[in-house]
Order: sequence, then C-alpha cells, then structure tokens
Amino acid sequence: MSAQNRKPVKVEDTGHEWDGIRELTNPPPRWWMITLHASWIWCVIYFLLYPSIPLLHSSNEGLLGWTQIKEFKEAVAENDAVKAPYMEKLKAMDASAIEADPELRNFAESAAKAVYGDNCAACHGTGGEGAQGLFPTLADDDWLYGGDLDTITESITEGRMGNMPAHIDAVDDATIQTLADFVLALPEGNATDAGWAAFNDVGCTGCHGDNAQGGALNGDNYAGSVNLTDRIWRFGGSRDDVLRTIRYGVNQEGVEQTRSAIMPVFGEKLSPEQIKILAIKIHAMGGGQ
Ligand code: HEC
Ligand code: HEC
Repeated sequence: MSAQNRKPVKVEDTGHEWDGIRELTNPPPRWWMITLHASWIWCVIYFLLYPSIPLLHSSNEGLLGWTQIKEFKEAVAENDAVKAPYMEKLKAMDASAIEADPELRNFAESAAKAVYGDNCAACHGTGGEGAQGLFPTLADDDWLYGGDLDTITESITEGRMGNMPAHIDAVDDATIQTLADFVLALPEGNATDAGWAAFNDVGCTGCHGDNAQGGALNGDNYAGSVNLTDRIWRFGGSRDDVLRTIRYGVNQEGVEQTRSAIMPVFGEKLSPEQIKILAIKIHAMGGGQ
C-alpha cells in the first residue's frame, strides 16, 4: 500500500519526545517569518514616530510631534475660526436684532445648545420640559416672569426666586379651604363669588392680580406669580398640592414645607454673548412670543 511506502522525511529533532511524538526543528513557513519581521519593524517605526515612552507627567514626543491633545486643540481652533466672525457680530448686536437675521439666529440657536446643556438642562430638562413641582417648563408659552427677550435675559442674568408668604398662621383654616376650592375651580371657569371675595380679602390679588392671571400677564408688580386660571400647574393641581402652597407659601425661610423655587444667578458665570444666545434659544422654545 502506497501509504505505507511514504517514508517521513528525515528531519533533525530537538531531542524532546512525548508519547512517541517528536519535536522537530523544521523552520516556520516563510509567510509566517515575513509577517513576524514586518510586525516588529512596524512597531519600531511607530515607536519612533509617535509618543511611546510614558514619562512622569506626559510621554516623549515622537518624531512627528503628534499628540492627541494637539490634534484636539487644532480642531477646536479650526472650529473657533469658523465661529469667530459670527461671535464678533453677536457681540455688537442686541438679541432682537440677532433674532431678526435668519443666518445669525440659526447660528445663535445651535451655539446655545452646548451652553444650555452644560448649565440649564440639569434643572429645566434637555428639551426645556422642566420638572413638575420643581423647575418650570421653558418650552411652552406659559411664563412666570415673561417670555419676551428682555425678561428672559433678566431671568438668566439675575436669577429668580418667587416669593409667596405662608398663610397657615395668618388665615383661618375654613378660609384656606375656601381658597383651595377657589383655586381648583378657576381653570374650570366655575369659581364662586365667595371664592373671589376671599381671594380679594386675604390679599392674594396683590400678587396674582385681580384676574388671578399672575405675573407674566399682569406686569412687573406681580413678579413671578403663577397664572391660576389656566390648567398648567407649577407645583401640582391636586387639592393637597394647592393647600400646601397656600399654607406654606414659596421660598419662605424657616418654613419646613414651603415650596422651593430658586433659579440661580448666571450673570457672572456666563458671558454676555452666552446669555444672549441662550435667551434667543429659550425665546424660540417658548414659541417666540
Ligand atoms: C438649579 C436649577 C436651575 C438651573 C441650573 C437653571 N434654572 Fe432656570 N429656573 C429654575 C427655577 C426653580 C425657576 C423658577 C424660579 C421661580 O419660580 O421663581 C427658573 C426659572 C427660569 C426662567 C423663568 C421662567 C419663567 O416662566 O418666567 C428662565 C427663563 C430660566 N429659568 C432659564 C434658565 C436658563 C437659560 C438656565 C441655564 C443658564 C437655567 N434657567 C438654569 C431653576 C434652574
Ligand atoms: C407676595 C406675593 C404672593 C401672594 C400674596 C400670594 N401668592 Fe400665590 N404665588 C406667588 C408666587 C410668586 C407663586 C409662584 C412661585 C414660583 O413659581 O416661583 C405663587 C404660586 C401660587 C400657587 C401655585 C400654583 C401652581 O400652579 O402650582 C397657588 C395655588 C397660589 N400661589 C395661590 C395663592 C393664594 C390662594 C393666595 C392668597 C392666599 C396667594 N397665592 C398669595 C405669589 C404670591
């Protein structure tokens, strides 16, 4: 049989043998050797061209002088160069003029995305949706202080802190219950005369306005107070929510159950240009009214 005739080629062995299997000294295939040498040559070239030896605080510079941080900085500089002429224009113009120029407006709104994400989204949500009871929605046309460019700019620059006194000690409980019923009846359009009378007598009108429509619709004297006649609730529309707000007020120091509503001051943290583009973005979010 031919299989038996085929004699193995005589190859030197290393002298190692396990269970009759000898370790031969055959050289590896040529393609394998080429790959091996090409690999280490590639390693040496790469090692010389690029940063490769870690030093205490950085690493050596390769022959090419390339570093990741340089590449990043170049990309940032390129980006800044594209933005620079726009930023120059923004500096000189006021927000309403920028808004009137479609190209600049576009630029402002997209540049504002990052600033908004870094500074505002944590509270107001990435899309301006707010958080019920905590942070007001910016992406609607219902405002506490006002949705025009100047008022938005003021909200951002100076911060806001709505103030409503606690009524638990000053007003008897029956009246507080009447007021809660009144507040809940307002959006339904069936508030009673007795309700309006209590609202007036206790002095709620001083902040929410004679029409209960709140600050944004009644002007500066009623700063920040909520429109009670719509169905949008700042702190919640259940009877318990309304009772809590009336009893413990908003931002009352030392009152444990008071509502907290503090918009931080950004006038020092952000540049005037950043505030301008944010105001334009938020104006657009709110429908631009
Ligand atoms: C720590 C949370 C927080 C952060 C961060 C924050 N806000 Fe506010 N913001 C609030 C609260 C709370 C109010 C409501 C204040 C009140 O009720 O008096 C508010 C109110 C506002 C208002 C007024 C809304 C109205 O209805 O009149 C605007 C505009 C606004 N924020 C924009 C921004 C922008 C822009 C940023 C980012 C630069 C920002 N906010 C960052 C919490 C925050
Ligand atoms: C000194 C001004 C002031 C007075 C007086 C005042 N409020 Fe307010 N009220 C506010 C402000 C400001 C807010 C909104 C706070 C915020 O969002 O920062 C508010 C919010 C509310 C809310 C929350 C509404 C919601 O959407 O969740 C209710 C309810 C309310 N007030 C009812 C009353 C009633 C009833 C009275 C009279 C007993 C009254 N307020 C008196 C300033 C006032």
